[in-house]
Amino acid sequence: MKEIINVEVSVSKSTLDQCKTDLLCIGQFAEAKTLDKTLRELNAKLGGALEQVIKLGDFKGEAGGSALVYTGGKIGAKRVLLVGLGDKKKAKLDALRNASAVAAKKAVAIKAKKMAVALHLALWHGLKAREDTAKMAVPQDGRTTKSDLVRCGQVMAEGVHFGSYIYDEFMTSQKNGRSESLSIELIDNSAAAVRKLNKGAQVGSIIGQAQNFARTLANRPPNVMYPERLAEEAKKMVAALPGLSCMVFDDKQLKQKKMGGIIAVGQGSEHKPRMIILKWSPRSAKKSGTVGLIGKAITFDSGGISIKPAAKMDAMKMDKTGGAVVLATMKAIAQLKLPVKVTAVVCAAENAPGGQSYRPGDVITTYSGKTVEVLNTDAEGRMVLCDGIHYAKELKCEPIIDIATLTGACIVALGMHKAGLMGNDDRLIKALAAAAERGGEPVWHMPSGDEYAEELKSKIADLKNIGSKYGGACTAASFLGEFAGETKWAHLDIAGPMEPSEPLKKYVNEGSIGFGVRLFVEYLSSF
Ligand code: BES
Ligand code: MN
Ligand code: ZN
Repeated sequence: MKEIINVEVSVSKSTLDQCKTDLLCIGQFAEAKTLDKTLRELNAKLGGALEQVIKLGDFKGEAGGSALVYTGGKIGAKRVLLVGLGDKKKAKLDALRNASAVAAKKAVAIKAKKMAVALHLALWHGLKAREDTAKMAVPQDGRTTKSDLVRCGQVMAEGVHFGSYIYDEFMTSQKNGRSESLSIELIDNSAAAVRKLNKGAQVGSIIGQAQNFARTLANRPPNVMYPERLAEEAKKMVAALPGLSCMVFDDKQLKQKKMGGIIAVGQGSEHKPRMIILKWSPRSAKKSGTVGLIGKAITFDSGGISIKPAAKMDAMKMDKTGGAVVLATMKAIAQLKLPVKVTAVVCAAENAPGGQSYRPGDVITTYSGKTVEVLNTDAEGRMVLCDGIHYAKELKCEPIIDIATLTGACIVALGMHKAGLMGNDDRLIKALAAAAERGGEPVWHMPSGDEYAEELKSKIADLKNIGSKYGGACTAASFLGEFAGETKWAHLDIAGPMEPSEPLKKYVNEGSIGFGVRLFVEYLSSF
């Protein structure tokens, strides 16, 4: 297996024209008639080449767009990439994150070894020619105008990691190969700006690398990444991170503990289920409470006895995304040393059909003691998560937040662009929605409980595992809500953004996007 591309981000003091690099990336807003003023000097040095691209209409500064300019040795850089920042009036930090991703994706495509990024210039120096940024608040709403250079450094680092990632561990042919590594410099000619950008870039690199780690776990094929292997990955990760602990329940222990939900789902597979528990409990923690993060990690979801149609079934290797995102979040918060207590519970199982499989009609006694009538074995996510949630409750976690590629119905409701967000506590929902906005991972609040929970009443058990034909994302959430009970709880259904949607494909390569890592780290940073 080959290593995923190694990307390193640093910050240095340099002018645009002096920077020696394979690719110099600069930003331009949409529909501007003239070149941004931060680029005029560079344009002059290039004999007007940048202005020409815009005048000819080859590049309009639209989000996701870019134009490559060859420098003919007139400046330190071999090439210049003009990157679109989109509509100036609507510009949020997300525009900078996305533009950084576009630039890094391009750098990998042209096999650059070194790239320089100065995308913040148009956004920051261009929008506000302010000297003193220290007094400015870190933005809560992601708006550029209120943001500071530390945040700019963070989102640029997140963006370049996001865009440069390519899942090619199993590609042995070098024909479509890429460089072994990519060294990225964020540049600015002010020493004060460099310091601020650097502070942010350190954080952004940790988050970006963690997100890519989640993507690799999610992208790995199901014959390679099954529950036992996922647990090994978790242990390996924890061994390198002081202060983080890991405990794994194997199938025997799960049976001993009477975790009936996860056992039922996993029993049809050769690859037995695991529950992976990670703890981060720093002395610096400001509050006494512990946040519980529960992740669905179905390493392959065939549907089980209620088997899925063949088309695109391979994508169900990514049904472990929630668990991967939870593991990656723990990695990031341990590296960032966030002062908050967090316990992660990853419920890993393979949903396979076979003689040992659980069946439609079975009544399962879950870890909580609640009984569930199984009416569709493809509604397996909730069957593993209910045990994870109950376990987190026993550990006195509050709030409890679960993340799962839970329902196709959520994709029907929201499309691929946003995750569904449900829960039983308004403040928690608001805090998560705000974190999603800051992290540029959009969510939409959807209903659960009440009438939806009514639909789950069974004639022979406490609950059944599916509701009516309609509102499947909401009934699935309500099922989980029954196990959360009075504990503050929220649920993220990430079935839609499991893979990149059409606009996002301009910024990232295919496969998992590790949706949720930035959201969770933002949430826990402000907890
Ligand atoms: N993992 C799937 C949901 C899913 C579908 C995620 C497509 C990403 C893309 C989940 O386990 C599932 O099969 N859900 C069923 C529930 C139904 C049986 C009530 C679904 O959505 O069809
Ligand atoms: Mn399923
Ligand atoms: Zn599933």
